[in-house]
Amino acid sequence: MAKLVVFSSLIVFFMSCSGQRNSTGYSLINDMMYAETYEAFSDNPYFDNGQTMQTPPEGTIARGKMPHPMDADGNPLVLENPYEMNEYHWQRGKALYEKTCSACHGVTGKGDGLVVTKGGFPAPPKFSERRWRKIDKYPSGYVYNVITFGYGNMPSHAQQLYSEDRWYVSEYVREKLLRKPKKKKRN
Ligand code: HEC
Repeated sequence: MAKLVVFSSLIVFFMSCSGQRNSTGYSLINDMMYAETYEAFSDNPYFDNGQTMQTPPEGTIARGKMPHPMDADGNPLVLENPYEMNEYHWQRGKALYEKTCSACHGVTGKGDGLVVTKGGFPAPPKFSERRWRKIDKYPSGYVYNVITFGYGNMPSHAQQLYSEDRWYVSEYVREKLLRKPKKKKRN
């Protein structure tokens, strides 16, 4: 019995490889090899507009995507951070700032990222500017809105960061870069 198992698994093993590098080999389970569903961007004969991916019906909200509350004029409200900050959140905010923002703003917020110095993108304001000393004018909800909706030449980064992570980055920017511009790194 054991011999049979070893023998047949060897057969399956060798059948699944083929000589050519770019070939996927023999297909034993066709349902898995060839999906019968439509790919997101493929044509689709079942819908009038011929597309697989449909636009959501008007007035609906995708699960997990709460829209940002707006004032009567349609401007985004400045919210409070709904998440409690712990050591992990600070670290995450820092890491995501360095990944997502430092290309322009620089790691310490001097506005000297590579996209600016080498790429010629308009320089963002330095995080050491005097106006940031009035830190209460800039709650982390302010930074959150800059990330979410963009600001002047800075495009929105809502696609790059989940809402939750935008809060961690905002807290990090406000408390560690804007508030104490002289000290380089506090954590
Ligand atoms: C593509 C380059 C670029 C990236 C990436 C970028 N920014 Fe900016 N940012 C700018 C520029 C340019 C400005 C100045 C915009 C203006 O005044 O027109 C700016 C302005 C700001 C301001 C100041 C807004 C004010 O009141 O003057 C903050 C805060 C800020 N960015 C935070 C961030 C954070 C946090 C990230 C990462 C999620 C980020 N930025 C990513 C280019 C960038």
